[in-house]
Amino acid sequence: MSRWFVLALVLVASPAAAQPQPVPAPELPVVRVIATGGTIAGVQDAPGTLGGYRAGTRSVGEIVQSVPELTRFAQIETEQFLNVASPEILPSHWVALSKRINELLRRDDLEGIVVTHGTDRLEETAFFLYLTVKSDKPVVVVGAQRPATGISPDGPINLLSAVRTAASPKARGMGVMVVMDDRILSARENRKLYPRTGGFSTGEMGMLGVVAGRGPEFFFKPARRHGVDTEFDITAIDTLPTVELVFSYPGGEGPRLGPNTLGVVAVTTSGFAPGERDAFTEIRRRGIVLVQAFPTGEHVAGGATGPGPGPGGGPRGPQSGPQAGPPPGGTGMNLPPSVAVQHLLPQKARILLMLALTKTKDPREVQRFFNEY
Ligand code: SIN
Repeated sequence: MSRWFVLALVLVASPAAAQPQPVPAPELPVVRVIATGGTIAGVQDAPGTLGGYRAGTRSVGEIVQSVPELTRFAQIETEQFLNVASPEILPSHWVALSKRINELLRRDDLEGIVVTHGTDRLEETAFFLYLTVKSDKPVVVVGAQRPATGISPDGPINLLSAVRTAASPKARGMGVMVVMDDRILSARENRKLYPRTGGFSTGEMGMLGVVAGRGPEFFFKPARRHGVDTEFDITAIDTLPTVELVFSYPGGEGPRLGPNTLGVVAVTTSGFAPGERDAFTEIRRRGIVLVQAFPTGEHVAGGATGPGPGPGGGPRGPQSGPQAGPPPGGTGMNLPPSVAVQHLLPQKARILLMLALTKTKDPREVQRFFNEY
């Protein structure tokens, strides 16, 4: 009896129920790509070069279709929120985008969200979302440094990595992330160091993991408050408080503030020019909350609730900070204390101050937000 005849007998004799049943493929997670514009949607007048392009040109549908590999990892939904170069992004856009994301993430069937964004203001939008999205589902902000029609564009691989991260259960609870150049960066710490590929970095802290061949791999988790743990609720907010950002420089005289300004972030390594000291003394006397940030985002010692020089003013220098007491020349003026930034870029300190001012104008309570977020 030949082998083939035996096999045919076995097949004929086997009842249908004994046949192995096909195992249904697990459904891919649903990820929504929300587009706002930027170089990732940029198109050149002369394709095939690196320069000369219009950001915010391609639609979200075109961007997603240009990366067919996305469908191996997720079921993709798309939404065109804006299509602009990111310097056009306003605080009102942050609020509207965060509201939209909070609403979408309530859907049980949605695993995560990817926001495509211009890289120039990406770090601000990502940090606003980090502070205001009340969910532990992944939200990933992604951009590109080369336009979509450029030679070797980075947008497609960045988008693929962002979608793989947003689709991953490992990304839950990690806060809003920025995925660029195979790196997973916390939105709290990421910054654009330079306008070429590889230019996004978190410096000394804040790189959470990498997107490797097998997908996202995490090594660290943010310790500061975010996501479900955030106190900031923007549901009833359309307009954020006005906060100015001002650099200290030799001969500076301080900012000229409009009547609606509630807060100022002053950027200095330590100390102020004489004219600035007068201006900041006046700002504090008016009850405007003054926050000091270090230019590179380093830690500023002191602050309204932290250690630092006493109320009569104290030693000045990198370890003292000008916050806790009145500025020089202001001894005994009983000014409200000012606030020290804890390892945050000045432009991000401005965002945290805007949100803090939606809850309090007390500098000591504002300091608490800077200590916890
Ligand atoms: C932009 O920020 O919209 C333009 C620059 C970029 O996306 O790299």
